[in-house]
Amino acid sequence: MDFDSKKDFLNAAGEMIHWAASHLFDPASPEEGQLPFSSPKPGSTYQKLSPEIPTKGSDLQRLWSEFQSVIEPGIIPWNHPQFFGYFPCNTSPPAALAGMIASAININPFSWKAGPSATELEAKLIEWICSAFQMNGWTGCLQETATMGGLCALYAAREKKHPVNVEGMQNNQKPLVIYASEHTHSSIIKSGRLLGFGDKHIRFIPTNNELAIDSDKLKAQIDLDLQNGFTPTAIVATIGTTSTMACDDISAISDISREYDLWLHVDAAMAGVCMFLPEYQSTFKGVESADSMSFNPHKWLMSGFPCSVLLVKDSKYIKQSQAIDPEYLKGQGIAEFEDYKDWTFQLGRDFRALRLWMVLKYYGQDGIQKILRHHMDLAKEFASFIKTQSKLTLFEEPHFNLVCFHLNNNDETTAYLEKLQESGKFFIEGTKINEKFLIRVAIGQTLTNNKHMEILKNEIQNIEV
Ligand SMILES: Cc1ncc(COP(=O)(O)O)c(C=O)c1O
Repeated sequence: MDFDSKKDFLNAAGEMIHWAASHLFDPASPEEGQLPFSSPKPGSTYQKLSPEIPTKGSDLQRLWSEFQSVIEPGIIPWNHPQFFGYFPCNTSPPAALAGMIASAININPFSWKAGPSATELEAKLIEWICSAFQMNGWTGCLQETATMGGLCALYAAREKKHPVNVEGMQNNQKPLVIYASEHTHSSIIKSGRLLGFGDKHIRFIPTNNELAIDSDKLKAQIDLDLQNGFTPTAIVATIGTTSTMACDDISAISDISREYDLWLHVDAAMAGVCMFLPEYQSTFKGVESADSMSFNPHKWLMSGFPCSVLLVKDSKYIKQSQAIDPEYLKGQGIAEFEDYKDWTFQLGRDFRALRLWMVLKYYGQDGIQKILRHHMDLAKEFASFIKTQSKLTLFEEPHFNLVCFHLNNNDETTAYLEKLQESGKFFIEGTKINEKFLIRVAIGQTLTNNKHMEILKNEIQNIEV
């Protein structure tokens, strides 16, 4: 390479920062003639990429312009305020800068020795969160995703009930069973498979009118399993199911988990951040009696991806299941702080604590509360609008920041969703609940405000059915 790489870095970085700033602060809207979500043709990025691995290097400026011409056109801008699909994955200026710093220093703080300040920062963040959520005596760590949080929780539950790290699951005569809502997230099913429970041993408990686990049916199923020689092991309850953000009754379920000595994991991947809001205390009632709980700052706390929090009442079984010290890492631990490698499956980890720290400091609890309430107000207001549209039916009053609606039948709802998607102005997806197809509008991007909701409402009013 014959270019001055530091100068090249600084020149390219300046342009990149300007580009990032416009993504973070003023993404173009349809009023400015931009259609942020016009879908590229499959293969349109792939075909522009050079067929062979490069033999010679290129300067960063050239790479940057190639990014803009080849890769950027195929990007779905998740940050865009008209992204209403799936659940959001929101970010913020402090998170973006922290991400840049973290990748520049590129540490791998899997133990205190490998990352003293990163480890201590993570410990403090967990203390802050436990205190804000009034989870007295709880502890935890940062995970990559809620999938990993659920997997670690179920792994701990399995080791608590029936330690098989050494013997394996092969000789178990009394199969271990997990209980979850029929609307549990697919990651719980995957974890069940990976941990050797198997689909046959996940009991999907029917839900009531509120789409929450029917506690009587849960109890009846546990009794039946005991009679039939199974080993009830864990319950996964959800606050904020993926399809409709329904909430299981954690108080009732935690009573059952205690009665039968079962691990209770609360999956609050999306909604958990609402524990910052005193007015949501009743929704989360009983969480402190569970054994573990996970939520994703990368969904609705502006931390950028990936960043998930796993909180546990007692870390004993998490560490009993996960801790392993190969020769080259032996004797490195210190008494005062955790080695977070003992809390997760992977050894290596990034410095996501820096992103979360920057975000919590930048917004403060007040700023976070304001943004969450703002999104939920937008959802309520949008739900009221849906009620005024004769062709549309609101599925139910919005839970948190999600509004679901439908038309007369699934074909009409599907065709309507396709029209919304074809407009290129929004990213919106659907789901099916009890055979009814629903359009889901999840409002949680950092910049989403009334203006963006008005654009959506106008589109809805103009669609011919
Ligand atoms: C309720 C629930 N649990 C778990 C997950 C998985 O989250 P992650 O992508 O962080 O693994 C999701 C994703 O949307 C979810 O909605």
